Amino acid sequence: MRALRVHELGDPADVLRVEETESPEPGPLQVRIRVAAAALNFADDLVCKGRYQEKPELPFTPGMEVAGEIVAAGRETNCRVGDRVMALTAPPSGGLAQEALANGVTSWPIGDNLADTEAAAIPVAYLTAHVGLHQRGALRSGEVLLVHAGAGGVGSAAIQLGRAAGAMVIATAGGAEKVELCRQLGAEIAIDYRSEDFVSIVNEATGGLGANVIYDPVGGDVFDQSRQCIAFEGRLLVIGFASGRIPDAPANHALVKNYSVVGVYFGRYAAMNPRVLDHAQAELMRLHGEGVVRPLIRAKVSLDEVPAALGQLVGRGTVGKVVVIP
Ligand SMILES: NC(=O)c1ccc[n+]([C@@H]2O[C@H](COP(=O)([O-])OP(=O)(O)OC[C@H]3O[C@@H](n4cnc5c(N)ncnc54)[C@H](OP(=O)(O)O)[C@@H]3O)[C@@H](O)[C@H]2O)c1
Repeated sequence: MRALRVHELGDPADVLRVEETESPEPGPLQVRIRVAAAALNFADDLVCKGRYQEKPELPFTPGMEVAGEIVAAGRETNCRVGDRVMALTAPPSGGLAQEALANGVTSWPIGDNLADTEAAAIPVAYLTAHVGLHQRGALRSGEVLLVHAGAGGVGSAAIQLGRAAGAMVIATAGGAEKVELCRQLGAEIAIDYRSEDFVSIVNEATGGLGANVIYDPVGGDVFDQSRQCIAFEGRLLVIGFASGRIPDAPANHALVKNYSVVGVYFGRYAAMNPRVLDHAQAELMRLHGEGVVRPLIRAKVSLDEVPAALGQLVGRGTVGKVVVIP
């Protein structure tokens, strides 16, 4: 089968190579999936560079999420050969290949109403957003939700899910086109945070109260500024650090303003409490049926085009999800 492989860590443009390789063998708790579609994530770039929290053994195939058909199932899974699933993959046999491995607990059957390209774009972005907003953020109807990088992968999902939860959604993004996309996704107020001061706009829109939940995949200065517009008893969700800087949170500031800084790592639930992911997944399928979950997909690329596409993703050159057809 064809697969993108990494033999030494480095920039994806330098270290990602398409190769012919053996199909991976699933362990007892795993399944092998014939990949109909995969999706790219910011973390794929970090994994290739050895800068992600999970470091697969070399050589590995990156790619965190796929949709496709189960072609082999370990004896201790409840999965069946022939099932169409969307799945979080199991390193080192990731999704940027014609076949990938996934754990049975993170492989969810999908119905005919969901195309492979759409299904591949759902797990990481929407599970992050669902777990972040609900399990970790306890978002309530009527609250104000501020979503940063709202036109990106995890951000676009958070706008849709926040709106569906009855929140008033304010989004930030870089540039006029992305700001307009945030509006189309459901944001009532969309801010170009490269040219406008989002802190004063949020504070003004909320009568000085601030946002109850802030969803931050950017970190750095955006996180620092977010602390200036978080509401009393607000929850500042630490989603990621696309800016490249991991910020510090002064404990005295959280004390004085009565807010919480809340870490969100949805993937950890697969090991610690998979029922949370199952519940979120069921909710996402219900919301897909209602037309709420609609992944923003503007680009579909081949395996050979992945290194360039990943470069665009981390260089702020993509919107929503980039889907890979292997
Ligand atoms: N916690 C979790 O469980 C979890 C799960 C998935 C992803 N994440 C994290 O969430 C973040 C976003 O991931 P994603 O895959 O959805 O990517 P993405 O949002 O599609 O792309 C990143 C976006 O971040 C914004 N950004 C701001 N400053 C940037 C900078 N200096 N360089 C590059 N981008 C910058 C850009 O949007 P603008 O141009 O609009 O600023 C860019 O489009 C990543 O840090 C990722 O690791 C966390």
